This record gives sequence, structure tokens and C-alpha cells, in this order.
Amino acid sequence: MVTLRKARQDLEKRRNIVDDALENLVQEKISSSEAPAMILARDVILAGGKRYRPILVLLAFEAAGGKDNSIVMDLALSAELLHTATLVHDDIYDQAKTRRGIPTLHSTHGLSHGIIGGDYLFVLGFGLGGKYDSEVVARMAQSCANIAVGELLQFNHIGDLSTTPEDYYSIIDGKTAGPFASACQCAGMVAGADETITKSLEEFGWEVGRAFQLVDDLLDLTGDPSMGKPRGTDVHDGKMTLPIIHALTMLHGAEREQLADVIQNFSDDRWRELTSLLEMSGSFDYVRQLIDNHIGRAQSVLDKLPDTSAKSLLFEIAKQSRSRRT
Ligand code: IPE
Ligand code: IPE
Ligand code: MG
Ligand code: MG
Repeated sequence: MVTLRKARQDLEKRRNIVDDALENLVQEKISSSEAPAMILARDVILAGGKRYRPILVLLAFEAAGGKDNSIVMDLALSAELLHTATLVHDDIYDQAKTRRGIPTLHSTHGLSHGIIGGDYLFVLGFGLGGKYDSEVVARMAQSCANIAVGELLQFNHIGDLSTTPEDYYSIIDGKTAGPFASACQCAGMVAGADETITKSLEEFGWEVGRAFQLVDDLLDLTGDPSMGKPRGTDVHDGKMTLPIIHALTMLHGAEREQLADVIQNFSDDRWRELTSLLEMSGSFDYVRQLIDNHIGRAQSVLDKLPDTSAKSLLFEIAKQSRSRRT
């Protein structure tokens, strides 16, 4: 068992390792022929972010018996850069103004530069991840392809009041949980672990990733400016997130009609109306319960791994994902 304080310090240590490596990568590219592209991309890379994916890669590698972190660093950076690329493009089609506490790339530099900056981040990510064995590269490529599928499915359901929880899970498995799963699984593969271990790490990633997106969707309704990105983007964009899907099935008659109207004709002066309908239908509590279920499953999958301090940290990071405010 590790104490909470020690766990926090150990997670912070991994975070610093990731931040330093990103900083070095930015410097290296700024001094190369890629400078114009890196100048465009560096702010969003260095603005921070929680670094969940690269930290999970480092911990999953260690929990799978990996010893020398340096062999998995490029995979960790790749996971972060691919994720950052999706954020830059996501902010274009979500028309978001801020990300990681700074203005979005497309809002400061225009649409074309936003697209190019995102493309560059994808290439950087694949350049680093492409050095690994072909199974690892294929697994990362598959999860990136499924991000596109998830995002397309999400578009199909914009404003669709008949969206089901199954549709929702297909969307979040594609856009968020899949990349968590592949990052954890591939870290195990790089450590040379057997299939029981790599499959368990994959399952852990799926469950933490689902919890992570459910929390993100709750924060879109309940969060504050400390998130570094605006609240309410999902509602403005007509995204059918689980609290809304749940409330639409729970409410009947006039109240359901009112909720449908709020969603379809949303404006910021309707926040109280929306949140009181969601509270009335128990949707926040329902989603919180599901988050706990996913986290519980992620934690029990860890039983299949040998007891190590990295495993305790994976347990802790799963727990922390529930109460994150950013
Ligand atoms: C945001 O990811 C997109 C989702 C999948 C919810 P993060 O919440 O990990 O964003 P950063 O990296 O911390 O900025
Ligand atoms: C983002 O989902 C998932 C990606 C693949 C980028 P969201 O659209 O919910 O992420 P935020 O809320 O903008 O960070
Ligand atoms: Mg978005
Ligand atoms: Mg969101």
C-alpha cells in the first residue's frame, strides 16, 4: 500500500518526466526545418493538460514488468501528441474558444493554420510511435482510426433525441476509451509482458477511459472556468451526452417536452432550467453511479497484475479520475 501523499508525489514525478520530454521535443523541433510548424503547435503542447495518457503509458509499462523507462518514452509522448492533435481538430468542429486555459489554435491563427497545426501534431505522434514493433503500431493506428469513427457517429446523433445509451457508449469508446485502452495495452507490449497482462491493461484502459469521458460530460454541465475550456459546449453543439439521454427517458409529458425544447433551442439563459430538469430526473446521480462502476471494474482488473508500486498508482489514478475538476 502507498500512502496518498506518496502516491501524489509519485504521480507528480511521472508528470514532470513527461513535461520535460515534451519540452525537449519542442526545443529540438524549433531548432530544425520544422520550426514554422512547431511554433504553431507548441503553445497547446506546453500549455499543460493533465497528461493522463502518457502517465498511464509509463505506469502500465512499469506494472507490466518494464524496467527502463527510456524505451517507452516515445510511446508515452506519442499518446500525448496524438491526443493533442485530436483536441486541436475537435476544437475546430466544436467551435471552442479556449483549451488548456489558452485561446484555441484556430481562434488565434485561423482555420487553415488550426488544421495544419493539428495535422503536424498527428505526424509528430506517429513519427514517435512508429518506431515500435508492427503490432504496437497497428494497435495505435486502429485506435486512432476509431477516434474518427466515434467522432463521425457523434455527428450523426447531433440533436437526435432518440439517441440511446448504447449509441453513446459506441461514441465514447471510439473517441476516448479506445485510445486509453490501446495506450495501456501497447505499454504492456513494449514491456514484453504476456497476453494476460496486456489484456488486463487494455481492459483497465477501457474502463478508466469510459469513466474519464463520463466525467468530462458531467463537467460540461457542472464545471467552472478552472477547467481551462468553456462549460456548456456540448449543449450548445447539440451533443447527446449521457445525462441528457438519461433525462429524456426518465421525464414524461410536459417536462419531457420542456427538456426537448431546452436542448433544441438552448441559450445561456436556460442553464437553470436545464440543470433543474436533469436533477429532477436523477441524471447526475445516475451518471455518477456509472462512473463509480467503471472505476470499480478498472480497479478490479488490476488484481490480475503482480503487486507493484506502479499497480498501486494505476489504482490511485483510476480513483482520482472520479473527482477531477479539470
Ligand atoms: C479532453 O481530454 C478530451 C476528452 C477525451 C475528454 P483531457 O481532459 O485529457 O484534456 P487535457 O489533455 O487534460 O487538456
Ligand atoms: C473529445 O471529446 C474527444 C476527442 C477525441 C478530442 P469532447 O469534445 O467531449 O472533448 P472536450 O470536452 O472538447 O475536451
Ligand atoms: Mg470538444
Ligand atoms: Mg467534452
